[in-house]
Amino acid sequence: MRTIDSLGDLRGKRVLVRSDFNVPLKDGVITDDGRIRAALPTLTRLVEAGAKVVIMAHLGRPKGKVDPAFSLAPVAARLGELIDAPVTLAGDVVGESAHATVAGLNDGEIALLENVRYDARETSKVDEERAELAAAYAELGDAFVSDGFGVVHRKQASVYDIAKLVPSAAGLLVFKEIESLRKATDNPERPYGVVLGGSKVSDKLGVIANLLKKADRLFIGGGMAFTFLAAKGYSVGKSLLEEDQIETVKGYIAEAAERGVDLVLPIDVVVAPEFAADAPATVVDADAIPADQMGLDIGPRSRALFAEKITSAKTVAWNGPMGVFEFPAFAEGTKAVARALSEGDMFSVIGGGDSAAAVRLLGFDEKTFSHISTGGGASLELLEGKTLPGIAVLED
Ligand code: 3PG
Repeated sequence: MRTIDSLGDLRGKRVLVRSDFNVPLKDGVITDDGRIRAALPTLTRLVEAGAKVVIMAHLGRPKGKVDPAFSLAPVAARLGELIDAPVTLAGDVVGESAHATVAGLNDGEIALLENVRYDARETSKVDEERAELAAAYAELGDAFVSDGFGVVHRKQASVYDIAKLVPSAAGLLVFKEIESLRKATDNPERPYGVVLGGSKVSDKLGVIANLLKKADRLFIGGGMAFTFLAAKGYSVGKSLLEEDQIETVKGYIAEAAERGVDLVLPIDVVVAPEFAADAPATVVDADAIPADQMGLDIGPRSRALFAEKITSAKTVAWNGPMGVFEFPAFAEGTKAVARALSEGDMFSVIGGGDSAAAVRLLGFDEKTFSHISTGGGASLELLEGKTLPGIAVLED
């Protein structure tokens, strides 16, 4: 992958940077600024090099229309605080305001274009439409640095097409993410374990299919575990269940046995009659979930089993919480996995917005993990073994 150094002397040059500032907002206030912080090393580096920095970013999915609810204004303000310098937000994506804002930049100053997804061409499936917008971006920059790791799996104008029009390179975040995730997926030190959670099996089919060929241990928790338990013939009560995936999951169970992959499923479950923070919680065996209860976390014996098999691994990748960690009564499974990863002597990688948020919310020291990814879909696609367009274009 080409690095920033390959772009040469950047003093006085306008450098377009794609960042992933898709942060969670509540009533217009940013609730987790992790992605903005993760962008700082590259931005600081460019500022120090004397570049005129022009950031392209999206927030949510405004579907090609201007919608103030998706404005990057809160991001511009927060970035300004974190980087301790003014960040000028343009009033549009590639219009008059964007041109005037970029023209007004001095060396080492930063501007942010408005939400690139206000322009329908950004995410268009039609190559020519994206290319047209990329050409408009190219009028605003002399070089391109791709640093929005969370979007590198998207073939979009500000991620992919622009890289073909001006000299382009990977930013420090993208570089670090790819290096860490490849270390955990391409040639992992063994035993290699992968912990998958979250609500839906159907979101992770590609990942499971790929990992059955690579991992030594595959741990399944979260809502998706109940489709596995159902595939084993257990009743799962009112738990999340994807009935249409049961046959596929039966195939995975058979394949794991054939390949000698240790498929680790919950052996007990924390159940409650309803999905609520104060619902009365009890622990039952995984094959004895009552019809009127739903599983909301893995149980204590499962926690011990998962922890033992995680800590004895040499490489562990984790994506997706083990239970409803937002409710304290159902957070212990996720905590146990986070603790095992943080305490074990291993290369540990956490991917997916939810698991990264869980680690922060539950108070773990981020430094005790080898790498916490800023990418949700992007890190999953890497685990799946896919080629990501936003990375491939930096390697041509
Ligand atoms: C993310 O939040 O995972 C990235 O910003 C990508 O967002 P998207 O799924 O809307 O493309």
